[in-house]
Amino acid sequence: MPLKNPWFETVAEAQRRAKKRLPYMVYGALLAGSERGRTVQDNTDAFGELGFAPRVVGHHAQRDLSTTVMGVPTSMPVVISPTGVQAVHPDGEVAVARAAANRGVIMGLSSFASKPIEQVVEANPNVFFQMYWSGDRDAILQRMERARNAGAKGLIVTLDWSFSMGRDWGSPTIPEKLDVKTMVKLAPVALSRPGWLWRFLKARTLPDLTVPNLQPPGGQAPTFFGAYGEWMQTPPPTWDDVKWLREEWGGPFMLKGVTRVDDAKRAVDIGVTALSVSNHGGNNLDTTPATIRLLPAIAEAVGDQVEVLLDGGVRRGGDVAKALALGARAVLIGRAYLWGLAANGQAGVENVLDILRSGLDSAVLGLGRSSVHELAPDDLVIPPGFRLAPGAS
Ligand SMILES: Cc1cc2nc3c(=O)[nH]c(=O)nc-3n(C[C@H](O)[C@H](O)[C@H](O)COP(=O)(O)O)c2cc1C
Repeated sequence: MPLKNPWFETVAEAQRRAKKRLPYMVYGALLAGSERGRTVQDNTDAFGELGFAPRVVGHHAQRDLSTTVMGVPTSMPVVISPTGVQAVHPDGEVAVARAAANRGVIMGLSSFASKPIEQVVEANPNVFFQMYWSGDRDAILQRMERARNAGAKGLIVTLDWSFSMGRDWGSPTIPEKLDVKTMVKLAPVALSRPGWLWRFLKARTLPDLTVPNLQPPGGQAPTFFGAYGEWMQTPPPTWDDVKWLREEWGGPFMLKGVTRVDDAKRAVDIGVTALSVSNHGGNNLDTTPATIRLLPAIAEAVGDQVEVLLDGGVRRGGDVAKALALGARAVLIGRAYLWGLAANGQAGVENVLDILRSGLDSAVLGLGRSSVHELAPDDLVIPPGFRLAPGAS
């Protein structure tokens, strides 16, 4: 049944709708988090601990929210974070890319995404392709070259994942592939959310759980779990490996997953263009602190040499303003747009981006700034002990 009013006013409402519309397995995969869920919770809670210090007179009638990230222009300092999530919507990352293009925002595409990069670039020319260190160097190069040929304007390399398993609230079972036997078994789950199933049937497709961007030349696209297995068996990279990858790419290069000041400095040494202070949205080593607590020290240490971004817990435009005030050039968002996609497809993602834009604009207005570049720590009330600086000698 179509929703009476598909528009939603907050990301929290988009999440409630996603929960109602998605089969519990798919919703659970989006919710993610690990172990106690302390990090995933802290990522959002910590934004709430920071206060604003608004000004009363001297507001600006015109405010500029635009900026660039790794040389690519964006209408606001919000980038779609790469997420390897399948089965949310039949148009998947193409719908997200279209929404991002319509709102002038850069699209980060996961190598575990459900749509081929060529289709995603067609929907949005401003794509950063994300890779893990998986497979041998030849496979890594082949995937990277494919992204380059498709027109990716930057590479995001995510290196924080440590295969931590288990959630105290339980993990959903995700099938290896959707063959007839599995579909019969899963029918009650799918039928519990007929609207979700209908979207796929209308598009004459079913979630196929393969990862087309990791397809070898002349071969088949591996399944999600096949690709995950390859990644688990790949020896983790050294700093020299990362440097090699950066040199092979030769263009704008973001290292995602930095939480320590010493790692941020090493990243500068190997010549990255940007880094994202990230704990993988709390899906990785649980009890890693919220990224917004770690951002200021990292931005102070390396922010004059590379672009520092943040991801984790951004649900409001005010969160974006706080991250910028503490030194981020931009933020990446994960779950926020996934909830929007689940709630209302491409329009739902546009809805989320509009919520963030108007919240950011309100913050810039109330703080008496005329541009996002003017946001500064003085715009915030920062509680004692908020800032953390692991790896700062
Ligand atoms: C369901 C899910 C899948 C993700 N998959 C990837 C991925 O494939 N590659 C990656 O670099 N990060 C991945 N991430 C991490 C996001 O890019 C981002 O760091 C995180 O979601 C930010 O936190 P937020 O969801 O609170 O905004 C994933 C996150 C979620 C929630």
